[in-house]
Amino acid sequence: MKLKSILAAALLAVGLSVSAQTIIKFSHVVAADTPKGKASEFFAKKAAELTKGKVKVEVYANSALYKDKEEMEALQIGSVQMLAPSLAKFGPLGVKEFEAFDFPFIFDDTAELHKITQGPVGAAMLAKLEPKGIKGLAYWDNGFKSFSANTPLKNPADYKGKKFRIQSSKVLEEEIRSVGGIPQVMAFSEVYQALQTGVVDGTENPISNFYTQKMHEVQKHLSLTNHGYLGYAVIVNKKFWDGLPADVRGQLEQAMKEATDYANKIAQEENDASLEGVKKSGKTTVYTPTKEERMALKKAMAPVHLKMADRVGKETLQKFYAATGFDPAKL
Ligand code: LMR
Repeated sequence: MKLKSILAAALLAVGLSVSAQTIIKFSHVVAADTPKGKASEFFAKKAAELTKGKVKVEVYANSALYKDKEEMEALQIGSVQMLAPSLAKFGPLGVKEFEAFDFPFIFDDTAELHKITQGPVGAAMLAKLEPKGIKGLAYWDNGFKSFSANTPLKNPADYKGKKFRIQSSKVLEEEIRSVGGIPQVMAFSEVYQALQTGVVDGTENPISNFYTQKMHEVQKHLSLTNHGYLGYAVIVNKKFWDGLPADVRGQLEQAMKEATDYANKIAQEENDASLEGVKKSGKTTVYTPTKEERMALKKAMAPVHLKMADRVGKETLQKFYAATGFDPAKL
């Protein structure tokens, strides 16, 4: 009898501690060994540490749970609690302002970018997600994109008539059109095969994504154009977040702060290491455009700014220009 009640008490205790643990499913589409992959694992570790095991973050990499479009829907209905989609993927959600990050050549470097992502403009943009049932927690860097194809990409004319896979951003569609290319929106998980089978001719991505998805195996030429930025907003289901006990939420905010510092610290290193990997593979010719070639691309893509200003809102775009000093009229 005594033994029975001890057992019952032990089972109850185990049951209680199991049910007291909050699970956060964190889904993303890139490989584990990328800036986002590593930062999400870092966050999971910190969250467990700071909440003393009250929260368990389960990270699902490489579209294991959901592809791009599906993951947004899954977050809104609460099938997953956390994501870090690229800033180019918020348009379909109706928050088009985020596509301001996609304008070609708008940022010269990450210092300019951080004026937005680490300042009031970035914070105000995250707040726009709340009516969609989403809370924005942080911005994580990846890096600047380069173009690839099976033919050399030196001058704007080299893009003409080629199909390029892009993320779901109208600004990116216009970017490709500005050089005579044909944009094709496609989920990230489908890009390798589309390149392999010739469904598309080329693509754009930071090198960390290019290398970890093995795109260098199916693209003969990589041109280090650094023409646009790709980074992330870490987002959670708002109802879930607001429903957490205040102390736990505070601990998770701290974990997120540390994960953000980590993400932004490793992003460039990861891209540099990936570039070395691509070069070592010997499968892709890596080309650095001359100053003149890069300027020609910048000029060819400048009309995108005027054409798409209304899409993201002139006010938002002006704030970006004020922070970065970019002026398309001067090109
Ligand atoms: C892409 O679809 O190319 C990127 O947004 C993938 C990612 O999450 O970095």
